[in-house]
Amino acid sequence: MDPIAFEKSQTLDLPDDLEKLREIVLSCHLCDLAKTRKNVVFGEGNPKAKLMFIGEGPGATEDETGRPFVGRAGQLLTKMIENVLEIPRSEVYIANIVKCRPPNNRVPTPQEAQTCIPYLMKQIEIIDPKILVALGSTSYRWLTGDTTPISKVRGETLTFQGRILIPTFHPSFLLRNPSKKREVYQDLLKIKELL
Ligand code: URA
Repeated sequence: MDPIAFEKSQTLDLPDDLEKLREIVLSCHLCDLAKTRKNVVFGEGNPKAKLMFIGEGPGATEDETGRPFVGRAGQLLTKMIENVLEIPRSEVYIANIVKCRPPNNRVPTPQEAQTCIPYLMKQIEIIDPKILVALGSTSYRWLTGDTTPISKVRGETLTFQGRILIPTFHPSFLLRNPSKKREVYQDLLKIKELL
């Protein structure tokens, strides 16, 4: 990673207020994703949520609307929350590792992820959820620094910065591999119990 961008990302003096943080993120130009994005996708939900889902980064629909998880994968995530956890989507908080869409939905580069992650860390600190759910490998990897494949850690109850962290498969992966929904269903039942 470019040392200047890394330095900037680490030393950003971010506010302890979610709305002020949103304003800063909405005008961020710290990486090249700012050049191709239509909208920054800050995240949405209950600012006092006990449960927070963390995806990888916005796709086309999210980029168009400025909202996380509103495309096909988002519709599946919403069903998982509302039908299995039996709570309204608006009760949880949903955010991503990177706040701007990587072109052609590619995986965010290490530089993009490292530049953006202080924003997510600050969101987590402000919202202060009891449980974090990492959706997919990219989310798990950049949140924890652990490169263990998601298939090996999914469903485990881990601790991350004093919070419960449960990694599970990404809803986009479930759309391509519907037979894996059963495992995610088990993970959701565990989350429901822990809540
Ligand atoms: N996939 C993600 O990881 N995040 C979104 O917001 C949408 C799709």
